[in-house]
Amino acid sequence: MNTKNLELPSYLEKGESVTKTLAAIKEREVVLEVKQLSKTFDSTKGPVTALNDVSFKTHRREFVTVIGPSGCGKSTLIRILAGLETQTHGEVLLDGKAVSGPGPDRGMVFQGYTLFPWLTVKKNVMFGLSCQGKTRATAESEAMQWVDLVGLEKFANAYPDQLSGGMKQRVAIARSLAAQPRILLMDEPFGALDAQTRVRMQEYLMEIWRNIDITILFITHDLDEAILLADRILVLKAHPGEIQEVIEVPVPRPRSSEQLLSPEFLATRQRLEELIHPPLDNDDTKPNMFRMVNVDDDVEPLL
Ligand SMILES: Nc1ncnc2c1ncn2[C@@H]1O[C@H](COP(=O)(O)OP(=O)(O)O)[C@@H](O)[C@H]1O
Ligand SMILES: [Mg+2]
Repeated sequence: MNTKNLELPSYLEKGESVTKTLAAIKEREVVLEVKQLSKTFDSTKGPVTALNDVSFKTHRREFVTVIGPSGCGKSTLIRILAGLETQTHGEVLLDGKAVSGPGPDRGMVFQGYTLFPWLTVKKNVMFGLSCQGKTRATAESEAMQWVDLVGLEKFANAYPDQLSGGMKQRVAIARSLAAQPRILLMDEPFGALDAQTRVRMQEYLMEIWRNIDITILFITHDLDEAILLADRILVLKAHPGEIQEVIEVPVPRPRSSEQLLSPEFLATRQRLEELIHPPLDNDDTKPNMFRMVNVDDDVEPLL
């Protein structure tokens, strides 16, 4: 990816977060503040508490990952942050202002491909810019910067169905960033990709994040992905969805998948394993169905 000679929009400064310690990150301003957030859904089986009393802060240019078993409220959390869902209790503040609906200050990238299939890569990225009232020429030149940033300049005129899954997600990232959001909200964006592409995408994303002024909240259920990307990991537990622990990742940056075997990485992984797959208790009379549910499966654990 060529980011060196790119003329980025003026609000973007070249990345410094790569060299910063967590203590330094925490001195930066708070971009996102979640205060005592709860969400209860009414279902045919009665009320379901998807989130209970979730509070955390995310600082400018921080990379936070959220991990937890299926059904622990990860998607509900991100949908509330995006303004696509309303909370039952609590508050979401972006730059100190309460969030009450969707807005261009928050970019979203989902697992499913959400590109417009009838538009080229460039036009997909231009779409939001044109909606913001930019002239065609401005929208086109800004869009091309973002297409370059994600390394797809040769594919600017291709259509989504001509691209691989990883490339489609790079376009989705470019499209979200083009609107210059304060925070990028990503819900298992690489979940549908094969293992090798996924690793490449993680490295791409870290490279993009390093080079621009963006705060990222990234949901995953992949332990290695959660560690590799994050400054801090919010570990959620299910029923009800609550923050179980916040882990500060001690792995130095810049990171790459080569660090998966470093002592800091392994120690963090062990802690995550303990939280997400706790050892079986001694009650053999009752099979623990919860642990038999693979976190990759989108099924409800039997309690
Ligand atoms: N629209 C809805 N109506 C009723 N229950 C829901 C709805 N959306 C999510 N839930 C329930 O809330 C809980 C959390 O779901 P979700 O946020 O999708 O979890 P995750 O993304 O961590 O797998 C689950 O028990 C799920 O069944
Ligand atoms: Mg989900």
